[in-house]
Amino acid sequence: MSDLIHGGDLISASVRYDIPIENWIDLSTGINPCAYPLPSLNVNSFQRLPYQKPAFDEAVIRYYGHKSFLACSGSQQVIECLPRFLPALTVLLPEIGYQEHRHSWNKHGYECCFYSADSRANAVNIIEKRLSEGKPFHLVVINPNNPSGLCFTAKQLLAWAERMPKGGHIIIDEAFIDLSPEQSVLSYYDTFLQLDNLLVLRSFGKFFGLAGVRLGFLFGAPDLIKKIASHLGPWAVNGPAQDVAMVALGDQGWHVEAREKVQQNSKATLALFTPLIERLTFNKQAIRMSTSSTESVFGLFSSWWIETSVALTMYEFFAQRGVLLRVITERSSSAEFAGYSLVRSGIIDKDNSVVVDKLQQVIDEYILTLN
Ligand SMILES: Cc1ncc(COP(=O)(O)O)c(C=O)c1O
Repeated sequence: MSDLIHGGDLISASVRYDIPIENWIDLSTGINPCAYPLPSLNVNSFQRLPYQKPAFDEAVIRYYGHKSFLACSGSQQVIECLPRFLPALTVLLPEIGYQEHRHSWNKHGYECCFYSADSRANAVNIIEKRLSEGKPFHLVVINPNNPSGLCFTAKQLLAWAERMPKGGHIIIDEAFIDLSPEQSVLSYYDTFLQLDNLLVLRSFGKFFGLAGVRLGFLFGAPDLIKKIASHLGPWAVNGPAQDVAMVALGDQGWHVEAREKVQQNSKATLALFTPLIERLTFNKQAIRMSTSSTESVFGLFSSWWIETSVALTMYEFFAQRGVLLRVITERSSSAEFAGYSLVRSGIIDKDNSVVVDKLQQVIDEYILTLN
């Protein structure tokens, strides 16, 4: 599976399948297809060095509710350097989940071990067991998990943070939490402030649909934030990104509408895929679906466990027709999923009839190939 194209890499996809970039339906990421409309930008933002503007800081504090943060060029930037600021301990990570976490801890020489991210019961068992052993370790949680959809309540995560043996940190990647912000650990203001072992990553690009501006945040204890900020240097976030974020983060009317619209688009995308998934399920070639957000909220992507050979054929069939899906190469250790891979799809804009019709057509054609 090594030559699958990475999420959102339409440049490689267009070369490999000889389809112009603008003709693709990109379902390989969880980026909101209905992006925040860009405000007109002041030319100074392009011409001056991007020192962090007080108005940008205020907008961030108002949206996320916390003062102790650092802004970065996408949360990926912090994921890459975070391990170098934490004690050298074993790290417990989700087996399936945004793999840049695993790469980064490995790169920094940490010993990594894993909990299963396809069943809450399994994950809780393993995490609880580690906590009860009393030996310090770091814990990484992607909440909700991309791509498995597994999520924990904020209360559960805060309780774990309180019980972490001294020296261990809990890193919560909330890249997809904006759809249900009340589920963020940041919304538990007082508890969060008391915990100096809790680090929270947030991503601007997903919910606001503006992944290209490269903006993300780390929230945590002031001393650690200061050290990492000093490592990133003075201009981690470019001027136009700050200007766009100032407006977007403050636009509460858009936040409400966008959440509703993501729900509708998510349901519409699922409705298109349902006949195909039902057919695969009937053939015993698909077994379970998960969505990217917290209980009963439909999110920015959905994933299905599909027999690996079928998953790869389906990926190829869709790509040859200009629809880019994502097949997750990491395997689950759960016996239930042996021989299956996760196929993930982002969402479409249900009001874009060209996209809806094309996706419908590709799905129908694919169903015809199934016996
Ligand atoms: C779970 C998760 N965390 C973090 C990131 C990094 O996002 P960004 O660097 O755009 O904030 C991604 C990107 O896909 C992701 O899926």
